[in-house]
Amino acid sequence: MTMKSFQHLFVMALTLVAFQASAQFKQAPLHYAFDALQPHVDKTTMEIHYGRHHVAYINNLNKEIAGKPEEKLSMDGLVKSITKESSPALRNNGGGHWNHTFFWNIMAPNKGGMPSGVLASAINKDFGSFDEFKAKFKGAATGRFGSGWAWLIVKDKKLVVTSTPNQDNPLMPLAEVQGTPVLGLDVWEHAYYLNYQNKRPDYIDAFWNVVNWDKVAELYATAMK
Ligand SMILES: [Fe+2]
Repeated sequence: MTMKSFQHLFVMALTLVAFQASAQFKQAPLHYAFDALQPHVDKTTMEIHYGRHHVAYINNLNKEIAGKPEEKLSMDGLVKSITKESSPALRNNGGGHWNHTFFWNIMAPNKGGMPSGVLASAINKDFGSFDEFKAKFKGAATGRFGSGWAWLIVKDKKLVVTSTPNQDNPLMPLAEVQGTPVLGLDVWEHAYYLNYQNKRPDYIDAFWNVVNWDKVAELYATAMK
């Protein structure tokens, strides 16, 4: 092998290592168009939210975990490993990536309506009715001061509504109420301000038109196993 081809191979190997180190977590493609959730979630908000906010969480997460054991973890494993002792960069960006990936997946165009089957029965059993569940969820979403998320989780085989600040997640051992999310709503201003300004309650009401209950039912079935 000539010195030149050896140098070429060496540079390629270094590039590969750098690429692997900085590409542990990647953004999944959005399974609908940016304008598909209109008028409930506007196209510009989706473009900026998915294309800039979520991407920034991923880039900052990958930067934070480069060369660390967290690089080898799954997304769930990473979020479950985050404690009060974790760095703010890991907590905020790890949560930010998990939460947004989840959020895109539980929404879809031409959905909304009501849950059915086993999930509908569980909502009725644990909250009294679908309307009572929605009111409780809205209360959690409006009551979360500042930035955060409202959640429907499975905790001890029961459905529970909760909320978390910033990019915390109910799977994190540091969460006040821990459980497995089956539905989540981003209540950061970046999620609604362009279309709804300060009217967070209107954004929450509109959210019900884009919830993919089939996906939520699937997550519920998995969480109950
Ligand atoms: Fe967000």
